[in-house]
Amino acid sequence: MNRRTPAATPLALLLALALLGAGCTGGVEGTPGAAGLRDPYFPGLGNGGYDVTHYSLKLDIGPSADDKRRPADEKRPADDKRGPADGTSSPSAQPSDRPADRLRGTATITARATQDLSAFHLDLAGLDVESATVEGRPAAVNRAGKELIIRPGSAVEDRLRKGRTFTTVVRYSGSPQTITDPDGSKEGWLRTADGAVALGEPTGSMAWFPGNHHPSDKATYDIEVTVPDPLTAVSNGELISRRTEDGRTTYHWRTAEPMASYLATLAVGRFSTHQSATPDGIRLFTAVDPESEAASEEVLDGIPAVLAWSAEKFGPYPFTSAGAIVERTGDAEYALETQNRPVFPGPPDTALLVHELAHQWFGNSVTPKSWRDMWLNEGFATYAEWLWAADHDDVPVEESFDEAYEDGANWAFPPAGPPSAADISEAPVYGRGAMVVHRLRLAIDDEAFFDLVRGWTETHRHGNASTDDFTAYVEEETGEDLTELWDDWLYGESRPPVED
Ligand code: TRP
Ligand code: ZN
Repeated sequence: MNRRTPAATPLALLLALALLGAGCTGGVEGTPGAAGLRDPYFPGLGNGGYDVTHYSLKLDIGPSADDKRRPADEKRPADDKRGPADGTSSPSAQPSDRPADRLRGTATITARATQDLSAFHLDLAGLDVESATVEGRPAAVNRAGKELIIRPGSAVEDRLRKGRTFTTVVRYSGSPQTITDPDGSKEGWLRTADGAVALGEPTGSMAWFPGNHHPSDKATYDIEVTVPDPLTAVSNGELISRRTEDGRTTYHWRTAEPMASYLATLAVGRFSTHQSATPDGIRLFTAVDPESEAASEEVLDGIPAVLAWSAEKFGPYPFTSAGAIVERTGDAEYALETQNRPVFPGPPDTALLVHELAHQWFGNSVTPKSWRDMWLNEGFATYAEWLWAADHDDVPVEESFDEAYEDGANWAFPPAGPPSAADISEAPVYGRGAMVVHRLRLAIDDEAFFDLVRGWTETHRHGNASTDDFTAYVEEETGEDLTELWDDWLYGESRPPVED
């Protein structure tokens, strides 16, 4: 329908209804996109009715409003009366302890409608939304918990018909939240000693940008971040440009290969950065907190070797760039395989580096269809550690397997069926997941196994895959019925016996 329609006469109304019935352009009314994608563990995550193809995020990061009023190096006498009456100094008169506390953002989201849409949702936790437009026209915005509901004006209804690509711009600002996962770990926006780091597995990315925050909707990204000097902003993909103006620097990062939103990251702080390339032409960018630098150097120097070894086992490295972000010990609780450039909460050891780089194949290029399929990420990344130890540290894979087999924690539940959202990163997903992979290797032979693994990463490169896709792929490629293997190792509740 068109807003320009003059005051409706009965005749005009009848005409309009007739046109509607005929499905005439401009008269089609869509339905609202679903508020969630019914993930088995996080049913509210993601949204229905569209598929994001690209995010362009422009973010301006700075200290909290209080800190801004009192620059660190300049104490204004007029402000003294605002200090506490007991004579202790006001925390805001000290150098900012929250240098990356506030964010002002513009998210430009390009998406393709998968149904005729009258309205749609984005996921966003906290922050204030100032305005939204769809196809350049103002749209109505409502908030309901972590759902941001966008109702475009009727003038652009045509542009949201099934199959069409439309652009939404959301302007927002505020102090981003730290989100506590069902398992108690912290993610979203984590304040660090000298800035912040954004981690998103499984739900944290909605703390810093609105989007379709489910792993099944992958997209490319441009992330442009402005930070006050001397801070650096590091994100995924490649650094396209860096501009400094008036003591603030804008870093433009581009991820040209599809990425699930939980793998997006942004680290703001003081970093030592290094750019280089592997002999195969993969670009490397590392950013290391100066306090972690000495203890990280040797392990990070091994990145090219780990990538080359991994490519031999798993197939060609799926992205054009790689690297690492190393925080100061205590800044984050866990490592995350953020795309291209994993985040480490302190100087990593080689096993952890191998694990996070293996995720670039298992998780980042081949991404789970739902959070139930986590073992495909963690099982393979753990198995990569076992393979590395066998090739470099004289620890046979059988020994790693036996150790995992004897560890009771791995038998709490089957890897393909964590009992709840709080369990998706528990031991069975890792250790028993890796045992599934090893049992598969024993069931076929080594050559067939590695061909299969390389075929798997190639078949689903830059896509999504589920546990069913995996078992079907394996059976199709090997021509074997492996029902028993899956029943015992992947789905079974109890510890299967092993022949000695
Ligand atoms: N994927 C991370 C790793 O193994 C760990 C992790 C962090 C995780 N958050 C999670 C795993 C949520 C599963 C779910 O390096
Ligand atoms: Zn992992």
